[in-house]
Amino acid sequence: MPILAIDTSCDETAAAVTEGRRVLSNMIYSQVLLHKKWGGVVPSIAKRAHEERIDFVINEALRKLRLDNNSSFSNLDYIAVTIGPGLAIALEVGINKAKELARKYDKKIIPVNHMEGHIYSCFVQNKSGNPKREFDFPYLALLVSGGHTELVIFKNHVDYQMIGATIDDAAGEALDKAAKMLGLGYPGGAVIERLAAEAGNKDFYHFPRPMIKAPALNFSFSGLKTSFYYFVKKMSDKERATKVRELASSFQEAVFDSLLNKTEKAIRETGINRLVVGGGVIANQYLRKKLRQLTKRNRGEAIFPPFKYLTGDNAAMIGVVAYYKAKKGILAVDPSKLDRIPRLSLSEKEFKE
Ligand code: KG4
Ligand code: ZN
Repeated sequence: MPILAIDTSCDETAAAVTEGRRVLSNMIYSQVLLHKKWGGVVPSIAKRAHEERIDFVINEALRKLRLDNNSSFSNLDYIAVTIGPGLAIALEVGINKAKELARKYDKKIIPVNHMEGHIYSCFVQNKSGNPKREFDFPYLALLVSGGHTELVIFKNHVDYQMIGATIDDAAGEALDKAAKMLGLGYPGGAVIERLAAEAGNKDFYHFPRPMIKAPALNFSFSGLKTSFYYFVKKMSDKERATKVRELASSFQEAVFDSLLNKTEKAIRETGINRLVVGGGVIANQYLRKKLRQLTKRNRGEAIFPPFKYLTGDNAAMIGVVAYYKAKKGILAVDPSKLDRIPRLSLSEKEFKE
């Protein structure tokens, strides 16, 4: 039976209906245009936009299945909702809606971590059950989004061990900040990708790669950001405009070099060469190519989310996690006590540097 999944962790209002690994419907209402002029996500605007749109998004997800009247909820098994990590006041909108629906229709709620959603996005199938790939544990997971950069051992269903994370900015956040410094708008990852490709994806300026030589599997991008800031500040407006492709390309090289270096280190240390990759930054075709080369070099494979629209935030991936949680009996015992956890971690024990 199907699961209704909801995710309002950041700036997309998302609902989906899934059954097992298959997506029956997937609705995403992006707020990107609302936040664009502020150069980043404004929590209060995100909250209001989620509140205004959540009913519409859920109804559309259900309507696609012709499950739009009250009785349709009897066809649903569970309601899954993202409880963290994310923006507290944004998460609350989805959680409150899930509670309201659970009460009204007498459903159980399955709480989901947004980052486990990004891991499972690599295994989501379309309505016909494609791609057919079976699970073959363990995997190494690389998660690269606007808020997170993490290396995780995906040991088995709903069983993770975090082995590395950023100690400051996330990779997507660093790309967004560099784009802002170059006056390229928000979010910046995709623009940087295009400009870098136009410059031939070369490293013209060789910006620093903090912690790349450190033995730990952690990442750091804030030193790179600072170095880039001073470098760009010294340039005249004209110089900056003429060199924007070279700057974008060199910055992207530095960020990706760190990601690739630590991922290869993690493969060698763990002996796990099957890599699942999730998060918004993985929309980047150049990074995908580099990761494919890296895993091939290590006689493994890189697995990416199958559809373009599953790269960014969505609720389909949340529904798929919920299916495996339900199989293990992991449900919210008392939905009324369900609360958001903005800093929710994938590891049971809090990650320490
Ligand atoms: O996973 P996501 O949609 O939202 C979060 O949970 O954070 O990731 C958004 C991030 C942004 O930083 C955005 O700039 C980045 O993904 N991004 C990209 C590309 N498309 C989106 N980064 C690099 N290349 C892209 N093509
Ligand atoms: Zn995300």
